Amino acid sequence: MAHTPFSDLLQQDLSRLEENLRDLISPHIKAKDHLSLLNLACGRGDETGVLAKILAEKSNSAHLQGLDIRAAEIDQANSRWKKSLGRKTEADFIVHRGDKLLDLAEAGTPDIAFLRHQNFWNDKPVWTRIFDQALQRLNEDGHLVITSYFDKEHELAVEALTKLGAIQVGSIENDHSRALSDAPGKSVDKHLAIFRKA
Ligand SMILES: C[S@@+](CC[C@H](N)C(=O)[O-])C[C@H]1O[C@@H](n2cnc3c(N)ncnc32)[C@H](O)[C@@H]1O
Repeated sequence: MAHTPFSDLLQQDLSRLEENLRDLISPHIKAKDHLSLLNLACGRGDETGVLAKILAEKSNSAHLQGLDIRAAEIDQANSRWKKSLGRKTEADFIVHRGDKLLDLAEAGTPDIAFLRHQNFWNDKPVWTRIFDQALQRLNEDGHLVITSYFDKEHELAVEALTKLGAIQVGSIENDHSRALSDAPGKSVDKHLAIFRKA
C-alpha cells in the first residue's frame, strides 16, 4: 500500500479540524467588527491558518495570540505565521505559562480561548488553573473551545470546566480522527467542545 506523506496527514487533520470547528462555533460566536482569540498551550500553532480563516468569516479584523511554555515551538510559530496571514488577521506567539494567564495584561479579554489537545490528564492542578484563568480572562460573551486526544481525558476536562462554572453549549465527536501510531488510544482532535461563561 502507498505510504501517505506525514505532511499530507497533517493537512487532512487540519481540514477535518476546520470543518468541525466551523460547525461547532458558528452557532455561538456572533459576527463582530473585531474578534480576538487566545490559543493557549499552542505549541507550534499548526492550526493558526484554520483559526484565521474561521475568524475572518465572522469579523472584519482579528487578532490571534498564542502562548506556550516551549520557546522553540513559539519561535517556529512566529516564523511561520506572524507575516503570512491575510491583511485582516494579526498573529503573535509568546512564551508564557497558561496557568499564569492573569499576570499577562496584554492577553486582554479575548472573545475565544482555544486549547487544542488540552492536556488535563497529564497535570490536573496546572490544567485546572489554565482553564480557570482562561475563563476569567474571557470577555463576558466569550467562549472557550477545547479539543482532546481521547475519551477519558475529554470527559475529565469537561467535568473540571463545569466545576469551574463553564456551561457546555456544543460538542462534536470526530469519527474520522486519525489514530496516533506512537500513542495508543489517542487520536487527533477526537473530541471538540465549546463552553460559555456562566
Ligand atoms: C498536547 S500538547 C498540544 C500542543 C498544541 N496545542 C497542539 O495541538 O499541537 C500540550 C501543550 O501544552 C503545553 N503546556 C504544558 N504546560 C503548559 C503551561 N503551564 N502553560 C502553557 N502551555 C503549557 C506544552 O508545551 C504543549 O505544547
